[in-house]
Amino acid sequence: MFRPLTWGWKSFLPSATLLSMRSISSVANSSLKLVNKVAVVTGSTNGIGFSIARRLAQDGAHVIISSRKQQNVDQVVDILQREGLSVAGTVCHVGKAEDRERLVATALKHCGGVDFLVCTAGVNPLVGSTLGSSEQVWDKILSVNVKAPALLLSQLLPHMENRGLLICFPFQPQKLGAYNVSKTALLGLTKTLAVELAPKNIRVNCLVPGLIKTDFSRVVSTEKSFLGKPEDCAGLVSFLCSPDASYITGENIVVAGFSTHL
Ligand SMILES: NC(=O)c1ccc[n+]([C@@H]2O[C@H](COP(=O)([O-])OP(=O)(O)OC[C@H]3O[C@@H](n4cnc5c(N)ncnc54)[C@H](OP(=O)(O)O)[C@@H]3O)[C@@H](O)[C@H]2O)c1
Repeated sequence: MFRPLTWGWKSFLPSATLLSMRSISSVANSSLKLVNKVAVVTGSTNGIGFSIARRLAQDGAHVIISSRKQQNVDQVVDILQREGLSVAGTVCHVGKAEDRERLVATALKHCGGVDFLVCTAGVNPLVGSTLGSSEQVWDKILSVNVKAPALLLSQLLPHMENRGLLICFPFQPQKLGAYNVSKTALLGLTKTLAVELAPKNIRVNCLVPGLIKTDFSRVVSTEKSFLGKPEDCAGLVSFLCSPDASYITGENIVVAGFSTHL
């Protein structure tokens, strides 16, 4: 099915002109720390992903917004466009190969390469016991939460060499069975990829949030939970993308307030 690409604040320009967005924007925002950088953020139409996308764009990056639903992508691009930020958007269900390909193509077509891949999209179709999870549930969880970040990075790899950073999102242990297992696998993926990709000058780090107030956390939070805000994660991601973090890789960095740590 054809899904239109949604562009941000330069949407009135013809597409050839969009290629020069980076230089136009860098003139306007040359003091910002992520100026001329390109960030792809999966699952960025709500919650933590949205907050990160907004923050990276506020810090000067061109950001590709994506999630499963066109309507959500359009809405977020419109919101950020009205804030004067440089964003583009396209639908991407990270578990679908054709969607991942379109996301990569979108980033390359309009930005010429990618500096940061932030894999926020994650699913938890079942709150229950680990051994009570069906094969279908395991497949869905592992496909979206573990395989998708690795596959997306492999597709972007040739375009990220010597400029790249991957950030994934694991979870503090909760009673979330197979989901929790999948998120723990991301810790291993981070360590493994950090070593493998060091020769290509690509850094790989994990942000490990505690309980953050979003739609996603409603199933596990209680009235007594000490909840963080999505913005509490965004500043750290911006820092990890900045030159100040150029010697940080293979780390799992916890943003969890008073929650129990891994
Ligand atoms: N909230 C917490 O307490 C917490 C703590 C630790 C880790 N995390 C992790 O942080 C990430 C974001 O969580 P959140 O709380 O911000 O969730 P959220 O508020 O529910 O937002 C989820 C976002 O991801 C998109 N999405 C869902 N499934 C997707 C898929 N298969 N492919 C692409 N996009 C998808 C959603 O948009 P569409 O519906 O349009 O697809 C939405 O934009 C998750 O990986 C979660 O495991 C959350």
